[in-house]
Amino acid sequence: MKNFTYYNPTKIIFGREAEKKVGTETKKYSNKVLLHYGGSSIKKYGLYDKVIKSLKEQSIEIFELAGVQPNPRLGLVYEGIRICRENNINFILAVGGGSVIDSAKAIAAGVKYPGDVWELYVSAEKNFAEILPIGVILTIPAAGSEGSDSTVITKEEGMLKRYCGHQDMRPKFSILNPELTFTLPAEQTIYGISDILAHLMERYFTRVENVDLTDRLLEGTMKSIIKNAYLVTKTPDNYDVRAEIMWCGTVAHNGLLDTGRIGDWGSHDIEHELSGIYDIAHGAGLSVIFPAWMKYVYKTDIKRFAQFASRVWGIDSYLNEEEFMALEGIRMLENFYKDIGLPVKLSQIKIGSDRFEEMAAKCVQKGLVGKFVELDSKDIIEIYKLAL
Ligand code: NZQ
Ligand code: ZN
Repeated sequence: MKNFTYYNPTKIIFGREAEKKVGTETKKYSNKVLLHYGGSSIKKYGLYDKVIKSLKEQSIEIFELAGVQPNPRLGLVYEGIRICRENNINFILAVGGGSVIDSAKAIAAGVKYPGDVWELYVSAEKNFAEILPIGVILTIPAAGSEGSDSTVITKEEGMLKRYCGHQDMRPKFSILNPELTFTLPAEQTIYGISDILAHLMERYFTRVENVDLTDRLLEGTMKSIIKNAYLVTKTPDNYDVRAEIMWCGTVAHNGLLDTGRIGDWGSHDIEHELSGIYDIAHGAGLSVIFPAWMKYVYKTDIKRFAQFASRVWGIDSYLNEEEFMALEGIRMLENFYKDIGLPVKLSQIKIGSDRFEEMAAKCVQKGLVGKFVELDSKDIIEIYKLAL
């Protein structure tokens, strides 16, 4: 196990009607707030009115910035920074999913930053200025941004999707009411599940040895998300099922399951080029890329892949044929994706091979990709080909 420091100060407020507490929680930080959200969903399903009521009960002055799109864009981040600077706003409330939260984090990092906030996403040297505090009401379990220290933004010019992270980006509080996720369209629910499972697998495939506790926590969380994925497709209005999925999503990505180990993250980098260029859902890209990545790298550590097959998918170890088990695990993962309606091939998301070289070149701009296996652009092209 590696040395580590684990610090996660985000207060989680979980359960039915939890969003009613947003006013009192926000008031602890500010009397003035930028309320940041996406498209029509929060108004259509009544959450917007509840948030406004709760903030007004605490006499909090509200400025609004709507319009965050999936794969959030830099242009709206600049707009948010401008509004905050002009009105001396020092707290941002994100109501939505990963895209809204990531946009809020970018605004929070940009308001006091003297240069162009995009530099924090692309420069090797990152000199963060003070980051404004943010709060969250989560409406889709997926990205885990409600508990993470990172943000992913797409620059419109070149559709470049990039990540940046800082401890102070962790939300001060995140409100998680599983009831708010009943309104999710079926495809958004499964894209979210795909992302949650991917966050667990990125961490699971490590070269660090003697990480038994986190191995087993990851395996348990994977088993829970898989079980509840099947349940939610049959019973989308079941509170307990939605609650398990929501909590899995936060636990999968808030850093606890990283402790003492180094995750891979190659599949995420390879996927970000897809969702950057083609503007597809991140979860749909991941269910296509992850099995292809696995087929390309499993021989690096067949034992770990055999353990994944045995402990997560129940492939019998008495077969005593590790390579066979490893491949069975990958097959089980693909079957799971298909069962719940996720794509497993690029053709299913209408992507051909014409931009593989461009995406691979962009992907390695900052160096080799992945930690379980370090991949160069040729490797990445092979992975895209395996996903065809
Ligand atoms: O815009 P509205 O109308 O709200 O609709 C949204 C959006 O179209 C809809 N939605 C959300 N909650 C809903 C709802 N519809 C009905 N009822 C509800 N309760 O869902 C759509 C997708 O929302 P989005 O925020 O884009 O989804 P998600 O949470 O999957 O976020 C994806 C983004 O997060 C990034 C991804 O790359 C992608 O850009 N990630 C961020 C990470 C982080 N910051 O730690 C890590 C992840 O690996 C990921 O890369
Ligand atoms: Zn992800």
